[in-house]
Amino acid sequence: MELMERLKQAADYIKERTKYSPKTGVILGSGLGEFGDSLENAEYYDYKDVPNLPVSTVVGHKGRFVVTDNIICMQGRFHFYEGYKLNDVTFPIRLMKLLGVEKLIVTNAAGGVNTNFSAGDLMVITDHINMMGTNPLIGENLDDFGTRFPDMSNGYDKDMIEIAMKAGEKQGLTLKQGVYCAMTGPSFETPAEIRMVRVLGGDAVGMSTVPEVIIANHCGIRVLGISCITNLAAGVSQQPLNHAEVIETTQLVKEKFIDLLKSIVQEV
Ligand code: HPA
Repeated sequence: MELMERLKQAADYIKERTKYSPKTGVILGSGLGEFGDSLENAEYYDYKDVPNLPVSTVVGHKGRFVVTDNIICMQGRFHFYEGYKLNDVTFPIRLMKLLGVEKLIVTNAAGGVNTNFSAGDLMVITDHINMMGTNPLIGENLDDFGTRFPDMSNGYDKDMIEIAMKAGEKQGLTLKQGVYCAMTGPSFETPAEIRMVRVLGGDAVGMSTVPEVIIANHCGIRVLGISCITNLAAGVSQQPLNHAEVIETTQLVKEKFIDLLKSIVQEV
């Protein structure tokens, strides 16, 4: 079946069941899913029940949409490293578009490349570098969503960045800002790769987000990105990296992260 047809089926499934029409999408990254549990009067749609959605496999992800009157939240996302096609990784973004979403807040766990960063910092994404070696828009263009050659010079919306910075200030948080560099994973980077990323202008490195942000921009959804710096990237500290550390750090920051996200969601 054509992608558009599959998207419409998925959107109809939710439209037929929901009493809400949220205008803001939220993607919760590894270890950051608890925000979705904290929402009141929410509806839940398991990915496995929504037609044509892939099933999330990574530990620390629940795999469902949480819908309220103002947001549709993804508890768990689809990663390229899981083996999905980028059309599947980004399927939920276009689904959200069909549901009427206008703004997207993407979050992720990321390694700190900038030597001024510490584990536990939150970084507002100002721009990205796509080092995945591919692009989710490769293939036939879906003109109903957007143009063949979409502009990415405002990939991360300036007004939303300002809202996020102000929300952080109000909470007494010093939010970092920086460029997110996307690798495919699933192996963590080598120290040499991290030095390369730093030379290229990356401040944080991760394995998600960029395909979703490209697709959001293509279809005119404005984007805010927030990275939770869960660890210093390879070679920045001498410690070996592992996923358990990533999840541990997200657990340490989850309260300030949830508060920040709540206040941003109210403002956007
Ligand atoms: N590299 C890539 N992805 C990550 C990292 C990292 O160091 N930490 C959390 N996600």
